[in-house]
Amino acid sequence: MNLLNQIKEKVTAAYQACGFSADNILVRLSDRPDIGDYQSNGALPLAKSLHQNPRMIAEQIAEKLRQDSFFSKVSVDGPGFINMTISDTVLGTILFDILANPTCGYERPDSPKTIFLDYGGPNVAKALHVGHLRPAVIGESIKRICQFVGDKTISDVHLGDWGKPMGLLITELQDRQPDLPYFDASYTGDYPSEAPFTAKDLETMYPIASNHAKEDPTFAERAHENTKLLQDGHRGYRALWHHFINLSVSDIKKLYDELDVSFDLWRGESHVHERLMKMIDRLRADGTLIKDQGAEIIPVGKAKGGNDLPPLIMVKSDGAVMYAATDLATIEERVDEFHPDAILYVVDARQALHFEQVFAGAKKIGLADNLSLEHLGFGTINGTDNKPYKTRSGGIPTLRYLIDTATSAALGKMESGEMGRDLTPDEKTKISKIVGVSALKFADLMNERMKNYVFDEDKLTGTEGKTGPYLLYAMVRMKSVLDKMNADSDLSATDTVTITTPAERQLLLRLYALPDSVQTAYDNRAPHVIADYLFKLSQDFNLFYHDCPIKGTDEVTQKSRLTLTKYTLFVAKKMAYLLGLQVPDKM
Ligand code: ARG
Repeated sequence: MNLLNQIKEKVTAAYQACGFSADNILVRLSDRPDIGDYQSNGALPLAKSLHQNPRMIAEQIAEKLRQDSFFSKVSVDGPGFINMTISDTVLGTILFDILANPTCGYERPDSPKTIFLDYGGPNVAKALHVGHLRPAVIGESIKRICQFVGDKTISDVHLGDWGKPMGLLITELQDRQPDLPYFDASYTGDYPSEAPFTAKDLETMYPIASNHAKEDPTFAERAHENTKLLQDGHRGYRALWHHFINLSVSDIKKLYDELDVSFDLWRGESHVHERLMKMIDRLRADGTLIKDQGAEIIPVGKAKGGNDLPPLIMVKSDGAVMYAATDLATIEERVDEFHPDAILYVVDARQALHFEQVFAGAKKIGLADNLSLEHLGFGTINGTDNKPYKTRSGGIPTLRYLIDTATSAALGKMESGEMGRDLTPDEKTKISKIVGVSALKFADLMNERMKNYVFDEDKLTGTEGKTGPYLLYAMVRMKSVLDKMNADSDLSATDTVTITTPAERQLLLRLYALPDSVQTAYDNRAPHVIADYLFKLSQDFNLFYHDCPIKGTDEVTQKSRLTLTKYTLFVAKKMAYLLGLQVPDKM
């Protein structure tokens, strides 16, 4: 049982021994560590319902707790708060029992959930850009947190691979290379397996095609026709479209690999096309779809705030099926195939209305009876001028640019000697990639999801303050302490720590507090809580490192401090994993 639960058990027993109900003992980590490690505020509501003096009730319970050598001090403070200090001996001996397991003391619930995660959301033929960093990094972390808690997860990248952009590309290509077999209606042979263009070509072609459509109504009309033909199964267009997807996906995968972000499913919006067509027929037949100015809509009622939600448009007046319709059919597919308890969408906060409509639509058509649908939004990445982040030349930064900017900032710090002083030039090149990407990810994850944050490559790769490199440094230091002393890094049932300084005590308490942070991070889908925990753990470790020398001390002290270092590294690595941070061996 983890520390908090052990204390809860003891406090419950004390309430009951005094003849009180223990329904509401309210035990938690103390927010006044100077007067106790944990506190119970349960005497206050209890006194209220019994019409008694809270301090007197608290005093009786405290007296019971004082008889237990688990606590070195129990005091009653303020109007009736019970503050408990755990004995140093207890803190130093429960290490293995509590922490030496895959979840470091976090007790998984008996009935794990199945969680479907939709994050990433890249679009075929468009380079990943600054707007794709957050969904990838936050989604990956939330997935790992769910897994840690024991949930089964299924992740889908939900590629934007359907609809108008595809028609635009086909039309642009038709004008540029009309002789390709894909455009020859009489062609019956196999189409070439190699694409007649590169992923880069597509990325440059797309904005041009999009402009053509804006300036030239004929082009726009042809693009519309071509989209329709593609969706209806035109053989040549489908073959072309497969090239678009294959090229884009292999590029996208490379970038996600660099970020250590992965998906179980690489499905796209196109994946539900057939299902969507059937869904539309069904909803037409049962009267759910309503004709409105030529379009077909589902009225979805009121928004959370009480205002009417705009109706969900399933089919536009020109016959095109819409983004929201695709999302609705995708929910149906996910429910049929995976029976999730929840679907989480890690998508820009500016799509909040879209998801509100889709979720309301899903409820209306009976898809969400036993399903929690959650839009996990996030804010934007700004430059130091607090406006949306731009490249030096003023363009929209690609994801590649962000990764490279962070990596070269990390390399710069290695070259200037701020970090990596003992590394060879080759190591610097290699390790700056790991440090740069981890720094980039941490700078994102440490912020509350919904808040905007400022991207400052110099700051985020700094070794001081709340940064990725600060944490990595602490972990590298733990490892090197153990290596230098030839300490065994396996956890063993005989491991104990003898507390001799406040720094050791604080570090131990931090290790035992992990379940609380994991639970909060999970409940609120909030990786920043883990980021915060890992930062504080690193601070506590650094304090311990400075206050508690290992070399030159007696054998018992040495063993004790190495043990504490070993457990700290064990916990820190797991938390770094939850954030998706890679830790270099040295830096
Ligand atoms: N591709 C979309 C975009 O670029 C994001 C997709 C988000 N996921 C979803 N199920 N709608 O805006």
